[in-house]
Amino acid sequence: MSVLGGHLLGLEPLGPWQIQALLDLAERAARGELEPDALRGRVVANLFFEPSTRTRLSFELAARRLGAEVVNFDPERGSVQKGESLVDTALTLQAMGADVLVLRHSSSGAPHLVARHVQCSVVNAGDGMHEHPTQALLDLLTVRQAFGRVAGLRVAIVGDVLHSRVARSAAWGFSKLGAEVVLCGPPPLVPADLAGPGIVVCHRLDEALEGADVVMALRMQRERQLGGFIPSLGEYHRLYAVTPERLRLARPGALVMHPGPMNLGVEVTPEVAYGDRSLVLRQVTNGVAVRMAVLYDLLTRRQAELDVRPVEPMVLVGRL
Ligand code: CP
Repeated sequence: MSVLGGHLLGLEPLGPWQIQALLDLAERAARGELEPDALRGRVVANLFFEPSTRTRLSFELAARRLGAEVVNFDPERGSVQKGESLVDTALTLQAMGADVLVLRHSSSGAPHLVARHVQCSVVNAGDGMHEHPTQALLDLLTVRQAFGRVAGLRVAIVGDVLHSRVARSAAWGFSKLGAEVVLCGPPPLVPADLAGPGIVVCHRLDEALEGADVVMALRMQRERQLGGFIPSLGEYHRLYAVTPERLRLARPGALVMHPGPMNLGVEVTPEVAYGDRSLVLRQVTNGVAVRMAVLYDLLTRRQAELDVRPVEPMVLVGRL
C-alpha cells in the first residue's frame, strides 16, 4: 500500500507512521534493496522555477537509479516566457506522459495548485516560504542514522526561519517523530506562531544551544530579504553564527547540519561546516535515497489508489 497516496506536498499533513515508513524505505534504497528497474517506462519531470543543485540533481539521480526517464523543464527557455501558466505547463508535461511532476516554485502553495489540476503525482521540491518535505525527510534520515533515533533529541534550528521552507518542514517532521525543536534567530526572522506541540521559539542562541543534540544552521536568504530584517550580515554573524566556541554550549557530541547552499562566514564558520561534527555531506548523500523512496512509493504503490485520492486542502499563497 502507498504511504503517500497521490502526492508529497508537505510534511505538515503526514502522520508519524507515514514519515517513519518513508525513512524505512529510504534505508532500503540506500542499501540498494529497491529493484533497479522498478520505474522502467515511467517519466519523472523536473520543473524548477528557482535555482537548485542538490534537490534537482538528486531527484534526477534517484529517478535514473530506479530506471525512470527524466525530463528537465527549463523555465528560462520554456513557453512560460510566452505567458503560459504554471497549470498549463503542468498539463502539457502530463500530456507527454509524465507520471510525476517535481516542482520547485517561489510561490507558497504552487504544488498544491498544480495537484488539483493533474492526474499524475506532484512532489513539492520547495514552495516559497512554505515547505520542502524531501529536505526534511533527508534531515530526519541523517539524524536517525547518526543517533539511532529521533525521539527525545533536542534539535536547535538557527537563523532565518521566517523565509525558510526547510525550517518549517524540519520543525514539523522532527516534532512529529518526538524530538524537541527549538527555533532560534533574531525576532523579525522567527515567527512566534510556529511554536506548537514539540516546537518552541527563542531568540538567544546560547539558550537554544544548551543541551542541543543537533544544531541546524539555516541559510541567510539574502534574495528574499527585501525588508531589512537585520542591521547587517556582520551583526547577524556576531549574534547567531554557529562557531566552534558556540558549539561547546551544545551537548558533547552534538552534530551540525545545514541544508545548503551555505554562506560560509555568515551563518556558519568553515571549521564547523567541514569539521568532524558536520553532517552536511551525509545529508546530501541521503537526499538521493530519500528521493528514490518517494518516487518508488508514488509510482509503484499508488496505482490502486488513483481513483480515491483525497483532495488536499488549498494552501493560500502568502499565508505563511
Ligand atoms: N537544500 C536545497 O534545497 O538545496 P538546493 O537549493 O541546491 O536544491
